[in-house]
Amino acid sequence: MLKTTLEMVAGHAEGQLGLCMYFHLLGKVHRRHQVSADMFEQWRDTLIQAAAEFNPRCDAQTRGAWEYVIDYAVSTMHQRFRAEAAQPSGA
Ligand code: HEM
Repeated sequence: MLKTTLEMVAGHAEGQLGLCMYFHLLGKVHRRHQVSADMFEQWRDTLIQAAAEFNPRCDAQTRGAWEYVIDYAVSTMHQRFRAEAAQPSGA
């Protein structure tokens, strides 16, 4: 599940067709589960820290690249958060 998620995160940064729409949908799913912006940040930091701890090839450049693509995916998800906040019915 985590591997698939990260492949999608990377594919979204590469501009793979359909993934932008899917991340908008995921924004809606996570909003329903009340996942806050703070939780996304904690998840990202913990994940990157764990990768760096267990993989000696995970250098500063690799960590920075993952931070960038994760933040990009989360920002696409948050576009959906904002759209729903402006439309409280959740439509
Ligand atoms: C880039 C960040 C993330 C991505 C790409 C992601 C991706 C996904 C995907 C693909 C699903 C399954 C959606 C479905 O059932 O159709 C999911 C479900 C879920 N995610 Fe995330 N997730 C992310 C971050 C987080 C974070 C930070 C949290 C909470 C700390 C979280 C909590 C959940 C929960 C509670 C579910 C529902 C699980 C269930 O219904 O069994 N996710 N996520």
